[in-house]
Amino acid sequence: MIEVTGLTKTYSIDGQVLKAVDGVSFSVDRGEMVSIIGHSGSGKTTLLSLIGGLTRPDAGQVAIEGINIWSMDDDKLSEFRNKKINFIYQFASLIPTLTVLENVLLPTAFGDYGEESEEYARELLKIMGLGDKTTSYPAHLSGGQQRRVAIARSFINRPDIVLADEPTGDLDEDTEKEVIQLFHRMNEEKMTTFIIVTHNRDIANQAKKQFTMSNGVLSPI
Ligand SMILES: Nc1ncnc2c1ncn2[C@@H]1O[C@H](COP(=O)(O)OP(=O)(O)OP(=O)(O)O)[C@@H](O)[C@H]1O
Ligand SMILES: [Mg+2]
Repeated sequence: MIEVTGLTKTYSIDGQVLKAVDGVSFSVDRGEMVSIIGHSGSGKTTLLSLIGGLTRPDAGQVAIEGINIWSMDDDKLSEFRNKKINFIYQFASLIPTLTVLENVLLPTAFGDYGEESEEYARELLKIMGLGDKTTSYPAHLSGGQQRRVAIARSFINRPDIVLADEPTGDLDEDTEKEVIQLFHRMNEEKMTTFIIVTHNRDIANQAKKQFTMSNGVLSPI
């Protein structure tokens, strides 16, 4: 369902040329779980943002369900992204003036926000161990709790594809396990496709397809 071919992104800083992503090709089937592990600066976040339609590649293609996403105009692409893809960002940010529940519901604001979404938001927050924090504000939560709200939020629109960038970076071991269990549950029950960037080998090993990234180059393990 995701077909990446020859994907390349170069940055130039002060006359220095850096190939952040260098000719990456791979494919992911629907409902597959893929992990990517690699040193800091190896290009993992850049790769996810090229696949997710956030950063335009210099060369190469990303086809999702047969559609070359980078051939769409900006409006089409953002609509496509909203419907299909969800990002769990490496540095999760919540809207400080909204409550936990409102933050989770935020992606539905332009869609079909209704009782059903609210129920689902509460269910996701419960799964994340935050059932009693729905009316709290982000500033009153720990970093790990904020991250769990962001993870709950990423599932609210029932995305087909989840691109997770270090999703469990600042979580304790137990919460980390819960998050990964939720990923597996979504993967099995809803056929959600996952690409997970992680530094955690145990998490990486649980994925069916595993890659390492080094100097912009992706290799299967
Ligand atoms: N917007 C940008 N402008 C210039 N250089 C960038 C930009 N974004 C990333 N880079 C460079 O591209 C390389 C890859 O960065 P990237 O964030 O993809 O690495 P990463 O593998 O996600 O690292 P980490 O594990 O630390 O998150 C780095 O050398 C970084 O400095
Ligand atoms: Mg990164």
